[in-house]
Amino acid sequence: MSGPRPHVLLSVAVSLDGYIDDASPDRLLLSNAADFDRVDALRAESDAVLIGAETLRRDNPRLLVNSADRRVQRVAAGKPEYPLRVIVTAAGDLDPGLKFWQSGGERIVYTTDSGAGRIGDRLSGLAEVVSLGAAVYFADLLDDLGKRGIERLMVEGGGSIHTAFLAAGLADELWMAVAPIVVGDPAAPRFLQTTLLGAADFPGGATHRMRLADVARIGDIALLRYLPKESDV
Ligand SMILES: NC(=O)c1ccc[n+]([C@@H]2O[C@H](COP(=O)([O-])OP(=O)(O)OC[C@H]3O[C@@H](n4cnc5c(N)ncnc54)[C@H](OP(=O)(O)O)[C@@H]3O)[C@@H](O)[C@H]2O)c1
Repeated sequence: MSGPRPHVLLSVAVSLDGYIDDASPDRLLLSNAADFDRVDALRAESDAVLIGAETLRRDNPRLLVNSADRRVQRVAAGKPEYPLRVIVTAAGDLDPGLKFWQSGGERIVYTTDSGAGRIGDRLSGLAEVVSLGAAVYFADLLDDLGKRGIERLMVEGGGSIHTAFLAAGLADELWMAVAPIVVGDPAAPRFLQTTLLGAADFPGGATHRMRLADVARIGDIALLRYLPKESDV
C-alpha cells in the first residue's frame, strides 16, 4: 500500500525572457548569492531533492546543503545530514565520475526496465536504481517516495522535469526567481517545454490562473511563489 505522496515544490530561476540557461556548455548563473542561499535553505527543509538526468550531465551539480549550520540543524531534528538526492533517467546514461556521486548522503535513480538494464552495475555502491516499469510516470515516482517516508520533495529542474510535474498536476508550489537578464537564444532551454505541449495539456488549460502566494525582492531578483493547484478566480 502506498503512503501519502510528498508535497512537491518546483524551484527554478529564469531570465526575463523565460530561459533557464543559455546554449553554451557552461552553466549560466541566473541567481545572485543571496538567492542561491535561499535555495540552499529550501533544500535543507526538504526530505528529497530531484533533478533530471540532463541537468546532471550538463551542470555536474552536487545538489548538497552547503550551509554547515543547516546540516547541523537537520541532524539535531533527527533527519539525515543531507536530503535524499533523486535522478530521473530513461536512457541510463549516467557517468559515475560526476561530482554528484562523490559526496553527500543517499541517492536514488528512477528509471525504466531498459534504463536499469543499461545502467547495470555502473552505479553500484553509489545509488539505489529503481525501475518503475516500461516508463517513468511521476505519480508512480511520488508513490514510491511516499512509501520511503519522503514528505517534502524539492524539484530543481530542468525544463522537461518541471514541464512533466506541472502538466501532470503534481506540483503543489512553484518558486520562480526572475533574474534581470535577457538570454535571447532560441537554442537555450526554457522553463516550460511548450513547443511540445500546448496549454490544454496543463490542468485547467490556458484559462487557469495559479494563485500567487508570495512575492519577495532578493537584491535584483524577484521571487514569485505560485500555488499551481489553486486559483483566486
Ligand atoms: N535555472 C534553473 O533553475 C535550472 C535548474 C535546473 C536545470 N537548469 C538547466 O536545465 C537544462 C536541462 O533541462 P532539460 O529539460 O534539457 O533536462 P532535464 O529536465 O534536466 O532532464 C531531462 C532528462 O530527464 C529524464 N527524464 C525526463 N522525464 C523522464 C521520464 N518521464 N522518464 C524517464 N526519464 C525522464 C531524461 O533523461 P535521459 O535522457 O537520461 O533519459 C531526460 O532527457 C540545463 O541547461 C540546466 O542548466 C536550469
